[in-house]
Amino acid sequence: MDSLGLILYLFITITLLQALQSILRLTKTRSKLPPGPTLLPVIGNLLKLGDKPHKSMAELAKTHGPIMSLKLGQITAVVISSPALAKEVLQKQDLAFSYRTIPNALHAHDQHKYSVIWLPVSDRWRSLRKIMTSNMFSGSRLDANQNLRRQKVKELIAHVGKCCQDGIAVEIGSAAFATSLNLISNTLFSVDLTDLNQDSSREYRDFVWNIMVEAGKPNLVDYFPVLSKIDPQGIRGRMKVHLGKLLKLFGGLIDERLELRKLQKTNGENDVIDILLNLNQEIDRTHIERMCLDLFLAGTDTTSSTVEWAMAELLHNLEYLKKAKAELEQIIGKGKQIQESDISQLPYLQAIVKETMRIHPAIPFLLHKVETDVEVYSYTVPKGAQVLVNVWAIARDPGIWRNPTTFMPERFLESKIDVRGQDFELIPFGAGRRICPGLPLALRMVIVVLGSLINSFEWKLEGGIEPEELNMEDKIGFTLQKAQPLRAIPFLM
Ligand code: HEM
Repeated sequence: MDSLGLILYLFITITLLQALQSILRLTKTRSKLPPGPTLLPVIGNLLKLGDKPHKSMAELAKTHGPIMSLKLGQITAVVISSPALAKEVLQKQDLAFSYRTIPNALHAHDQHKYSVIWLPVSDRWRSLRKIMTSNMFSGSRLDANQNLRRQKVKELIAHVGKCCQDGIAVEIGSAAFATSLNLISNTLFSVDLTDLNQDSSREYRDFVWNIMVEAGKPNLVDYFPVLSKIDPQGIRGRMKVHLGKLLKLFGGLIDERLELRKLQKTNGENDVIDILLNLNQEIDRTHIERMCLDLFLAGTDTTSSTVEWAMAELLHNLEYLKKAKAELEQIIGKGKQIQESDISQLPYLQAIVKETMRIHPAIPFLLHKVETDVEVYSYTVPKGAQVLVNVWAIARDPGIWRNPTTFMPERFLESKIDVRGQDFELIPFGAGRRICPGLPLALRMVIVVLGSLINSFEWKLEGGIEPEELNMEDKIGFTLQKAQPLRAIPFLM
């Protein structure tokens, strides 16, 4: 054999060996992948998702088990559907599972590079989260600025009072969305972003809402990242416009505040923005603007859809509404406004909110990711896999919950199960190191807004719909929403 022949021979042998090696490695990983349904070429299991992926994945888990793998286009997804496995990935191995799959739309304005929601667990993420939790969401901070929120709840009641006088229906989700927008904008900047009574002031509300709409659309690019450059549905492009408008708004509000502080020669601590500006060593201007964006996006739709679902359940089951009203009348006094400090004395109202979060979690899937191969219960979750914890399925598991699909707040009067990330059968805020940092504010807002709506008015469904006829179907957008918006008429007795 001449030297060229020898080189060719060696080259072919090495290439074949390498190919064999990678086939063996692939088979080994595949065989350890969690079980899952059979795949179609190219699209894998995408068609199995349908328009209610929380339900279809719960159904698939009945066949394939509480840890299951799916192929969604080019993406490998591992779906977790039991409390024991949720505990494994969110608590026992939470560092390995704490990465995020970033929706392509959130690459607009590079938001994923600055955002607590999307950054991987890192020094920067830790420091931003710490700034959030200690300066915004600690009990003492929330107590200190509750007066900013009290006024907003008063305005909601006044708005509903006007509808009551005029005998017209309130679109509960929309009123709750405007209120949570103002509750958060007042906690942050001491300003209103919308006026419940004037349609002309819908502009900022629409900015935030449009982002929710885009973020909630299924995006082909998320399943076929090769299409990223093209952005075939234009979602990232539109997101860029909407995010840009909000960032400009926050930039303007920060400029105004800096100007005011210069004029008044004071660095007061009246709201969150003052506090953040006073931390100038720890957080720069860009991160403050991006943090505001995070807080509006994560905190408005989640809170308002929870209020809407709770009201819907109460108008669907008047018996529970009656009990909630009785508790409020006894503890607060009929028609009086509820304060955040009253919450601990209202166990039934708290149970209603927990039961609402069990049966209609605002975020039905926790969206995590692994960056290395991770072993779970003898399976391999392969590097780069998306990890979806099906919070919705876990909270309706008949093996855990009695009459799981029935709304029954009483179950929480006898049980110590809570939503704060310790009880893995109920994790509407997630658990572990990525648990929702806004939880303390969210619970205050949902309970006070819901309690105020119930305590100040009687309610009936619009169009003479009987309670048992109310459509309780859901649909997935950015959050799990009511498919038909709830419209109810307030009245006084
Ligand atoms: C009922 C209302 C709310 C619900 C159900 C909710 C639920 C959640 C869930 C499920 C997560 C993801 C947890 C995980 O991946 O493991 C999350 C993350 C987050 N939430 Fe909330 N949330 C609510 C309200 C709020 C509010 C009011 C704020 C702030 C104003 C907020 C700020 C955040 C942030 C910044 C994150 C990202 C945390 C991180 O990735 O490290 N949320 N929330």
